[in-house]
Amino acid sequence: MADQVLTKPAQVAAPKGLTWQPRIIGFLCYWCSYTGADMAGTARMKYPANVDIIRLMCSGRIDPELITSAFSHGADGVLVCGCHIGDCHYIAGNHRTMARMPLLKRILLDLGIEDERFRHEWVSAAEGEKFAEIVREMTEQVQRLGPLNHPQIMRDRGVGHGMDLKPWGE
Ligand code: FES
Repeated sequence: MADQVLTKPAQVAAPKGLTWQPRIIGFLCYWCSYTGADMAGTARMKYPANVDIIRLMCSGRIDPELITSAFSHGADGVLVCGCHIGDCHYIAGNHRTMARMPLLKRILLDLGIEDERFRHEWVSAAEGEKFAEIVREMTEQVQRLGPLNHPQIMRDRGVGHGMDLKPWGE
């Protein structure tokens, strides 16, 4: 799965004064959004090369754990794209996505991960320009927020592997 990264688009220079480049992981469904991203690439549309794309057969396959795992492994942002409602190749896969993503967003907020670091969109195979625009916007937003520093956030909140075990004598 991790080796399914599309060819990078033409690099766009970082806005003046912002040199740090965020790493964004994009989970895209194969039938619509991945084809839309591919279209943006083959049409040589310009958008930042900050999104590493992971192709999945359906957005309904995107387990929330994949997203929290991407953040805990160094992603500064995560993008989820699937077919428009009514277009899912597996009929109702994206209905599951539609139900899960808002819940996940609330959990991420609760974990201290800002709203702008996670985005969920419907992108069809013909919407290369829409995909490029989403990546432009999201890259700028995450760039403004700066690096995520997930271990620090987890330590501050006493969550999971970031938990400070000193009070228990470790
Ligand atoms: S096949 Fe694209 S969302 Fe299900």
